Amino acid sequence: MTEPAYPRLGPDELEDQARRFAQDAVAAYKREKARARELEEALDTLQTAYLETIRSLAFVVEAKDAYTGQHLERCRVYGVALMRALGIHDDYPDAQYGFLLHDSGKVGVPERILGKPGPLTAAEWRVMRTHPLIGYQMVASIPFLKNAGEIVRSHHEMFDGSGYPAGLKREEIPLPARVFSVVDAFDAMTTDRPYRAALPLEHAAAELTKMAGTQFDPDVVAAFVPLCEQLRIEPTG
Ligand SMILES: [Fe+2]
Repeated sequence: MTEPAYPRLGPDELEDQARRFAQDAVAAYKREKARARELEEALDTLQTAYLETIRSLAFVVEAKDAYTGQHLERCRVYGVALMRALGIHDDYPDAQYGFLLHDSGKVGVPERILGKPGPLTAAEWRVMRTHPLIGYQMVASIPFLKNAGEIVRSHHEMFDGSGYPAGLKREEIPLPARVFSVVDAFDAMTTDRPYRAALPLEHAAAELTKMAGTQFDPDVVAAFVPLCEQLRIEPTG
């Protein structure tokens, strides 16, 4: 069998070919880099659009629930800062959406219950306590909101297992939901309510510490207490 007759390249031709190959590689690299930058910009735009969409949805619920004011946005800001302090922010990129949407299931609770001035009856409480699961069903089917859905479902669970809807305890409760419980309670305590004035910050921090281990994850409280002084956003409503 004879070898196929490949043309033999001289040194000049080889050098020429190598140069062309290098030029092609540089051009391909530049194209890929430009494409990566475009993708990054598109992702940024998309993330901003997601956040705005979710904010709008959350504000619809907030408008229905009279007392909350800027509560949602403060919870988001405090929650994100606390996730960073705990070093878990990058593990749960959609947690901030869950902070905003935690009460979205309240769209399924009649206004006569949500806005009832007096205490709720046992039957009304049963209806009110459906809101984490209603919210979970709304949110969790959206693929990029998986962790957010877990926060919505578990935002009324308590560390000692006495919460609802599932009575989860300790690490059974998703960590971002344990983070949310702390910032939610902190904001509720440091904001004026129709029935009491806002508590001073130190008082609120002391309350959180008192409830560490029962209502709240003690590690999360320990990370939040030194943070809360710097985080304070003046309530606007
Ligand atoms: Fe709730």
